[in-house]
Amino acid sequence: MNSLYQSSIKSLPLLGHGKVRDNYAVGDDKILIVTSDRLSAFDVVMNEPIPGKGKVLNQMTDFWFEKLGHIVPNHLTGVAPESVVAADEVDQVKGRAVVAKRLKPIMVEAVVRGYIIGSGWKDYQATGSICGIQLPEGLQQAEKLPQPIFTPAAKADLGEHDENISFADMESRIGAELAAKMRDVAIKLYTEASEYAASRGIIIADTKFEFGLDDNGVMHLMDEVLTADSSRFWPADSYAVGISPPSFDKQFVRDYLETLTDWGKTAPAPALPADVIEKTQAKYFEAIERLTGEKLKV
Ligand SMILES: Nc1ncnc2c1ncn2[C@@H]1O[C@H](COP(=O)(O)OP(=O)(O)O)[C@@H](O)[C@H]1O
Ligand SMILES: [Mg+2]
Repeated sequence: MNSLYQSSIKSLPLLGHGKVRDNYAVGDDKILIVTSDRLSAFDVVMNEPIPGKGKVLNQMTDFWFEKLGHIVPNHLTGVAPESVVAADEVDQVKGRAVVAKRLKPIMVEAVVRGYIIGSGWKDYQATGSICGIQLPEGLQQAEKLPQPIFTPAAKADLGEHDENISFADMESRIGAELAAKMRDVAIKLYTEASEYAASRGIIIADTKFEFGLDDNGVMHLMDEVLTADSSRFWPADSYAVGISPPSFDKQFVRDYLETLTDWGKTAPAPALPADVIEKTQAKYFEAIERLTGEKLKV
C-alpha cells in the first residue's frame, strides 16, 4: 500500500491543507479534495502517515453518499478526480479524492449521539445534560440513549478545538430555519446509517456531519461522512455498558499518547512507534471491510 502524507498537485491552485485533506480549486465552482494518510489526534497532526487511511476514509464516505443520497443532496459532482489533474499526478488522487461542488461551509458541525460517551459522558456526569439537553438520571457510560440527540459544535479555526454549543446558540449563529433543517437531516442520516451498521455488527455511537450551501442557498452534505475519523464505531460483539468500548479508529494512537506523561497534547506531535501505526492501519481496513462487506478498492 503506497502512502500519501501530503499531496502536491501542481496543475491546480491550492486552496489549503486541512488536518487530513488537501483542497484545490477546479474552476471557480468545484474543488478537488484529496484525503491524505495524515492522522490527527487531540487535534494535533501526527508526523507519520497511516498508509491507506485516506483511501479508507474516501471510500467509506462514497459508500454513505450513495446509501444516503435520498435524504439530502451531497457535494459530489461525478467528475473523475483523475480527469482534472496532470498525468503524473494521477497516483496522488486515485482512490482517495473527489471533485466536489465548492460550497459555502456552514460554520456549525452537526453532531449526533446515539450513545453516551466521550465529551457527552463528561458533560452528563457534571450537569445531567449534554449541550443543554436534559437526559434521564442514572445513565451509565456508553449506554444507548432513549433516542439520538443533536448536539451542535461551533467549527473551530485551524489549531483550535471545536466547541459544543446549545441549539439556541446555533439558531442565533445561522438562523432558526437552517438550524432546524440541519438537525432534522442529521438525525435522519444517523438513524438510517446506524440501522444499517447494526446489521453489519457495528455500533455507530456518535458522528459529526458538515453541511454547506450552494449559490442558491440549497443545503448539501459535504466533507467526510460517517467515517472512522468523524464517528465512533464500536464492534457490537465487544460492546458493554459501563466501560469505554474499543473502537475502529485511532484509539490505539490515543491510548499510546495518553501514556506520554510529558506530551501536553499540543503540536509538535511525538513520534509514533511502528506497532501503533500498524495496528491503527489494520483497524481502519477492518472497519471498511466490516461495514461495506468489501475490501478497499485500488
Ligand atoms: N464541498 C465542499 N466545499 C467547501 N469546503 C469543503 C467541502 N467539503 C469539505 N470542505 C472543507 O474542507 C476541509 C477538509 O479538510 P479537513 O482536513 O477535514 O479539515 P479540518 O482540519 O478542518 O477537519 C474542511 O474545512 C471542510 O469543511
Ligand atoms: Mg475535517
